[in-house]
Amino acid sequence: PLQLGVLASGSGSNFESLLEAIAAGKLQAHIKVLIYNNPGAKAAARAQRWGIPAVLINHRDYKKRRQEFDAAIVEILKEQGVEWVIMAGWMRIVTAVILSAFPNRVINIHPSLLPSFRGIRGVEDALEAGVKITGCTVHLADLEVDTGPILVQAAVPVLPDDTPETLHARIQVQEHRILPQAIALAARQYPQ
Ligand code: GAR
Repeated sequence: PLQLGVLASGSGSNFESLLEAIAAGKLQAHIKVLIYNNPGAKAAARAQRWGIPAVLINHRDYKKRRQEFDAAIVEILKEQGVEWVIMAGWMRIVTAVILSAFPNRVINIHPSLLPSFRGIRGVEDALEAGVKITGCTVHLADLEVDTGPILVQAAVPVLPDDTPETLHARIQVQEHRILPQAIALAARQYPQ
């Protein structure tokens, strides 16, 4: 099984979708640890319910020291025997410290059809641009934000009355489906 470490900043629904895919036998993996950066993150409560170790590394303790923040994350991931790092709603810019510790082993999920609408407002920006189709992308992370080889994408129609919330909810249904798929695909495409 793949040894996963998950990074999440918020709700953690994608993190939980991985746990469900593993439990259903759809993804041969173990989640060794959840790392979260916001004390109130709901992802931590989900980890507790599933019995997954959760570690808070608060970026506010590392002001202007992004590399040290990432080094603290790498230390936990290595300690736990993690091989693949999954950024599942991770709202921090990743540095070379994590990328070089896990070359070709850092996966990100983003709520748009990349390369369109990179950044933290992927859903809002698509809505404001008036596109009729958006979606989500799972890709290998690199040093730029929301770039790197694409693994899987899913398209989601934009409906006339959509708000960022209703659109994001439909995108998340697809995210939960493609994230486990993309991890399995990455492991086949980029074997150790
Ligand atoms: C997801 O929709 C993910 O694509 C997005 O945050 C959400 C997290 O949801 N990520 C980004 O916007 C990264 N820039 P979750 O906490 O319920 O998994």
